[in-house]
Amino acid sequence: MLTTPAEEPEMTQEEFTMMRDFIHEKAGIFFAENRVYLLKNRLVKRMAELGIKTYRDYFYHVKYDTSLSEFKELMILITTNETSFFRNEPQLLSFSNEVLPLLVKEKMNDRGTKTLKIWSAGCSTGEEPYTLAMMIMEKLGSLSDWRVEIIANDISEEVLRKARAAEYNGITLRNVKPNILERYFAKDGDIYRVKPEVKALVKFSHINLNEPRQISLNSNCDTIYCRNVMIYFSDEVKIQIVRGFYNALRPGGYFYVGHAETLHGISKAFKLVYLKNALVYQKEAVAAGAAGKARAATGAASVVATRAASTSASGGATRALNLLSKIKPMAVKK
Ligand SMILES: C[S@@+](CC[C@H](N)C(=O)[O-])C[C@H]1O[C@@H](n2cnc3c(N)ncnc32)[C@H](O)[C@@H]1O
Repeated sequence: MLTTPAEEPEMTQEEFTMMRDFIHEKAGIFFAENRVYLLKNRLVKRMAELGIKTYRDYFYHVKYDTSLSEFKELMILITTNETSFFRNEPQLLSFSNEVLPLLVKEKMNDRGTKTLKIWSAGCSTGEEPYTLAMMIMEKLGSLSDWRVEIIANDISEEVLRKARAAEYNGITLRNVKPNILERYFAKDGDIYRVKPEVKALVKFSHINLNEPRQISLNSNCDTIYCRNVMIYFSDEVKIQIVRGFYNALRPGGYFYVGHAETLHGISKAFKLVYLKNALVYQKEAVAAGAAGKARAATGAASVVATRAASTSASGGATRALNLLSKIKPMAVKK
C-alpha cells in the first residue's frame, strides 16, 4: 500500500503525457505541463486504494476497463467542482431582471406557449440550477400555468449524487439572502434542504460535454449556462462544445459563460449583448440565424458585439418587467 509520501511514486514525464492525453481525449480537460503535481496528487490516493504502484499501471487500468467504472472514478478525482448559490450576482441579475422578462414576453406573444427550458451544463453539486429555479420562481410567481424545465448535468457522478440530495451548509450559502433561505430551504439543524417545489424543476443527469452526441440530445433551450467549466478545456474542445451549445439553443436563446470567460477565438456565431448587469451571448433570431450558422462554420476568431441589440434588449426587458409585475405572486408552501 502507498500510505506515506515517502512511498509515493514519482510521475515520469512519459506517464504524465500518457495520462494527460488520455484525459484530454476523453473528457476535454487539459492539464498543462506545470500541473503535473496536481494530477499526481489527485491520483495517488486512488492508486493506493487499488494497490497499484505506478502511474503507467493505473493508466492501463483505466484505459482498458471496459465497464468504464474506473473512468468514472477518474472523473470524480480530476474535476474541479467549486461552486456556490447565487454565484456571480451581476450575471444572475441580468438573467432575472433582463433576460427572463424578455423570454416571458416572447413566450406570451408566441401563442401563449408558457414553457421555459434552461440548461446548466457542468452543474457541479447543484447550486447553479437550484439558484436558477429559485430566481424563476421569484419572478414568475405561481408556476401553475408555466412548464419550467431546468436540465442540469455533469461528468462527475459524485457531484450529481450531492446535487440530487440537495442538502447544503456552510460557505456555499453565503450569498443567499435571508428571505430566499426562508422561502426555498427547509432548515434542519445546520443543514439547509432545498424544498421539493424547487427540486421538482431541476432534472439532473450525467453528461460528458466532450461527446458531441450527448450534447446533441438537448435542443430548443431558451438559455444555456456553462459557467466556469470550459476554462478546463483546450481551445479545440471549446470550439466543438460551443458549436453543440449553439445548436442546442433555440434562435434568440441566450448563452452564459463564466464572467471571466469569453468566446473570443472560439466562436463568432453568437451576438454579444450588453445588458445593464452583465454581458451575455445570444444566438440570433430566425432571420439572422442562417448568417450566424455560416459564421459558426468558418470557426473564425472574432465575436460580434452589438450595442444596438443591447439597447433593444434593455427596452424590451423594461416592458416585460412591467408585464411580470402583473403576474400573481407564488403561494409558498412552508
Ligand atoms: C468549477 S465547476 C462549475 C460549476 C458551476 N457551473 C458554477 O459556475 O458554479 C465545473 C464543473 O464542470 C464539470 N465538468 C468538467 N468537465 C466536464 C465534462 N467533460 N462534461 C461535463 N461536465 C464537466 C466538473 O465536474 C465540475 O463540476
